[in-house]
Amino acid sequence: MIQELISTFQHLIGNDHVLVHDDDLKKYASDETENLFYMPDLVLKPNTTEEVSSIMKICHQHKITVTPRGAGTGLSGGALAHKGGIILSFERMNRILSIDEENLQVTTEPGVITQVLQEAVAAKGLFYPPDPSSRGTCFIGGNVAENSGGPRAVKYGVVKDYVLNLEVVLPNGDIIWTGANVLKNATGYNLTQLFVGSEGTLGLVTKIVLKLIPHPKHDLLILAPFYDLEKAGAAVSAIFRAGFTPSVLELVEIDALKIVNRMVDSHLVPVTDDMAAHLIIEVDGNDPDVLMKEIESIAAVLSDYDCGELYFAEDPTQKEALWKLRRRVAEAVKTEGFSIEEDTVVPRAALPALIRGVKELGRRFDFEAVCYGHAGDGNLHIRIRKQGHPYSLDNPEVTPALRALFELVHKLGGTISGEHGIGLIQKSYMDIVFADAALDSMRKIKSAFDPHHILNPGKIF
Ligand code: LAC
Ligand code: ZN
Repeated sequence: MIQELISTFQHLIGNDHVLVHDDDLKKYASDETENLFYMPDLVLKPNTTEEVSSIMKICHQHKITVTPRGAGTGLSGGALAHKGGIILSFERMNRILSIDEENLQVTTEPGVITQVLQEAVAAKGLFYPPDPSSRGTCFIGGNVAENSGGPRAVKYGVVKDYVLNLEVVLPNGDIIWTGANVLKNATGYNLTQLFVGSEGTLGLVTKIVLKLIPHPKHDLLILAPFYDLEKAGAAVSAIFRAGFTPSVLELVEIDALKIVNRMVDSHLVPVTDDMAAHLIIEVDGNDPDVLMKEIESIAAVLSDYDCGELYFAEDPTQKEALWKLRRRVAEAVKTEGFSIEEDTVVPRAALPALIRGVKELGRRFDFEAVCYGHAGDGNLHIRIRKQGHPYSLDNPEVTPALRALFELVHKLGGTISGEHGIGLIQKSYMDIVFADAALDSMRKIKSAFDPHHILNPGKIF
């Protein structure tokens, strides 16, 4: 990048917040997505909305590519500067601006770690439920960009269900608010929801107003082993049909559980060779007796699906240990070569068919797969290992298998990402789930906000 522009940025946000050296830049060249590495030309770390706006005005004028970035925990390559240019990191915009206890709302900057935000509102008895596995490191801004979910989405919904209003810097540097800090809003187009999940392609979110709810006082957490993977999948929809909405309903295939057990050296979860999967089930509310009855009724449903002996996480320490295991599954299976992660989602009742289909595709395309994730939402993460074939975006040894997997997902009424986004890695499969005319509409929206295509170009489509 030419020195004159670099000096302008240094003048604008301070020398320390303009990174130019390779050693610094390479920390921003990858995220948690498999095998991707793209060096940016420059990293800028603004501190205020006005600074973000000034940066965008300059980039708009000079047609410089800008890739917004949160904590870099993404799983679809969305925060990578694959066309070079500037990475705009929100790491310094990390202030919780206000917690409105009367209206149950929080206003925050995008660089706040999700767990920090959750703990700050919990200290006031309030609950912000979306809890991606990376909540200890990811930023709330990245969660908004990806419309993240996590285990509690099954009862409480995903990020979009909590975003009331956003301050956004548009690609030309204009600053707007998308809505109002209210629970109902029928005023014009819903720009707020257009920006949620837009993967940083339409504007830069600089302030976020989130709805909160009262924190439930109690929860019960159990683990249910199954001897047949498809039956575990079938039990999931049976629980809802019986009239229950657990606050968590996760599935972890036994191979994934064995790997994570090994990694953290845990003996918490009993695993025997005849087991196929575990369901992790939580119910929450304010009356412990009601919760116990609910769990007993759910257990009765499970017994029709060949379920083994239930394990109760008795105290906060056991619960935390179980959650730690669950949250580290992705990391654990990646270290054992399951490097390709897909984020499939199908209508809940189609889970057994999806699981069966994944195993059939594994035999046909010669790959191993482990399944885990948010079964209650029908959102199954499928991690694939193909011996001798490291993943790349266009590896012909891998892409036909992924295409076949996504075609199966589409045939079952589902789609190709539930919560990780499209970014770089899924964009060549968008044709499976959208007609040309639908993709064209999306491209027109992109061009309306970003006519020069400078903001996170080449992501989504
Ligand atoms: C999880 C992340 C990978 O569910 O979404 O662990
Ligand atoms: Zn997940």
